[in-house]
Amino acid sequence: MSIYVYPGSFDPVTNGHMDIIQRAAKLCDKLVVAVLVNSSKNPIFTLDERVDLLKCAVKGIDNVEIESFSGLLIDYMKKKNSKVIIKGLRAVSDFEYELQMALLNKNLDSDIETLFMMTNIHYSFLSSSSVRELARNKGKIDGLVPDCIKDRIIDKFGK
Ligand code: COA
Repeated sequence: MSIYVYPGSFDPVTNGHMDIIQRAAKLCDKLVVAVLVNSSKNPIFTLDERVDLLKCAVKGIDNVEIESFSGLLIDYMKKKNSKVIIKGLRAVSDFEYELQMALLNKNLDSDIETLFMMTNIHYSFLSSSSVRELARNKGKIDGLVPDCIKDRIIDKFGK
């Protein structure tokens, strides 16, 4: 059984992430979306909130599971018995950092492959931080995040 892992902060999940999740789920038997700790970021949503938002967003996609983990991605890969990390690339600016991460993980475990998927052109401008910035300043986030989580994001920043 092929198990792929799509890791990220998902603070919060956006339609750009959803596009990658939907496409990656077609390539494997099971896709585990893993909310991990990025030590260089201070998340707005708690780990549990980010997992809950993702669970709501992936309802209806049968072979997707949502989990969280604090520790190294490579240790999580072993725990899940998975050899493939899925990452989304939006622009050239993502490349340098992602290359470093992929090589670092490869150095830690040579059996692990990182597969990069090009983002949907419609979402190449989108990031979790821009969604947070819009919501914080009462801007519209319609069409940028799944409908079922929109109100919870708005509520987080106060109506
Ligand atoms: N659509 C929309 N946005 C996208 C996207 C897409 N297709 N692909 C990436 N993004 C955005 C995200 O929204 C996020 O935006 P933000 O910076 O505004 O929040 C950004 O790109 C990516 O950030 P993040 O989700 O944090 O992913 P990351 O590539 O920085 O990796 C972890 C985060 C958690 C996977 C990584 O830090 C990790 O593996 N941590 C565990 C510890 C570890 O093993 N470290 C490596 C060895 S030291």
